[in-house]
Amino acid sequence: MSGATIVGTGHFVPGSPVPNDALARVMETSDAWIQARTGIRQRHFAVEGQGPSDLALEASKKALADAGIEATEVDYIIFATMTPEHFFPGSGPLLGAKLGIGGIPALDIRQQCAAMPYAFQLADSLLKAGAAKTILVAGADVHAGFMPWQDWDVVRGVADREIATDAYARATRHRGLAVIFGDGAAAMVLRKSADPRGGFLDAELHSDGGAYDHLFVPGVGFRQIPYVTPELIAADAHLPQMAGPSLLKKAVRTLSSTVRSLCSTQGLDLNEIDCFVAHQANDRINRAVRDALRIPPEKIPSNIARYGNTSAATIGILTDELRREGRVRKGDLLCFLALGAGLNWGAALMRL
Ligand code: UT7
Repeated sequence: MSGATIVGTGHFVPGSPVPNDALARVMETSDAWIQARTGIRQRHFAVEGQGPSDLALEASKKALADAGIEATEVDYIIFATMTPEHFFPGSGPLLGAKLGIGGIPALDIRQQCAAMPYAFQLADSLLKAGAAKTILVAGADVHAGFMPWQDWDVVRGVADREIATDAYARATRHRGLAVIFGDGAAAMVLRKSADPRGGFLDAELHSDGGAYDHLFVPGVGFRQIPYVTPELIAADAHLPQMAGPSLLKKAVRTLSSTVRSLCSTQGLDLNEIDCFVAHQANDRINRAVRDALRIPPEKIPSNIARYGNTSAATIGILTDELRREGRVRKGDLLCFLALGAGLNWGAALMRL
């Protein structure tokens, strides 16, 4: 039976780019350090009042236009985000209402940066089960609310003043996290491939809750009664904590082995993959995966320099750019790979 394939893509990033130098004004870091250690040159941040479903709405309009269909043809929404507008409800129903197609099923999935291999497997299963014909997969994250500074006017370059010593020290404590994330959204329209051998082939997915504390929000949650207190906020327990170096090593190891294992299950040689569409958390991860799997550099493209790590949006943004630039085409075999908080990780194979 033919699998799910991507028939339309779009992406959207908010506002003007925020260069590394702007972050160096509110914390101890530098453009040279960020570029050398991550490959990132700039990122975008949403503004007050702009949630993930707003960004996803813009991306979805582009994806629907690219697919040449009306929103009313969508009969299922899968929305991936770790930064929903509300604890509940999820952002999927909000996107449906904003698109004027409220009433259809809309799932939120919480696989963070690893969302897209999961979303593709889910979409493929729904299409094969006959539960949907046209699925809108959206990935959007707004990390601005996680950022450890209040001097947004300085970060956005509209004010120029000295930062208070304690504010500078606080941002510096969270700098590992603060320099890598950026905001954005992507949307993809998925349908069953017309080619009986085309579309989604297989995915290999994993999770390890034993390592949840490698990247998590320690406070503001339902182990606490009440779930948020002024004390938790004062202790910055609402900001994510990330064990960056350990996560980086885990990502290289697990992503290389998962891709190898998935290809071997499918009887595929790595050379048969036309493009490895990898999550963009840190260019060093993807370069190490590339070396471990001996992938030619042109087959594992990078766009982290322009966006940073946009979590659930990343793979969709990159896929959209690759399709629009003609760097991936109908008939190409793609391997998507990603690791994120949970931990969740996985890889998925899809022939366009
Ligand atoms: O999206 C899914 C999951 N996330 C990831 O996969 C993230 C993976 N991890 C990373 O991307 C990297 O670990 C980071 C970018 C977060 C950090 O880079 P690193 O090369 O692992 O740095 P480190 O934490 O080992 O720190 C090395 C040095 C330390 O200084 P000393 O102790 O050697 O003097 C840090 O204090 O770099 C310092 N440092 C910084 N300096 C300037 C850490 N962050 C910064 C910074 N600017 N932003």
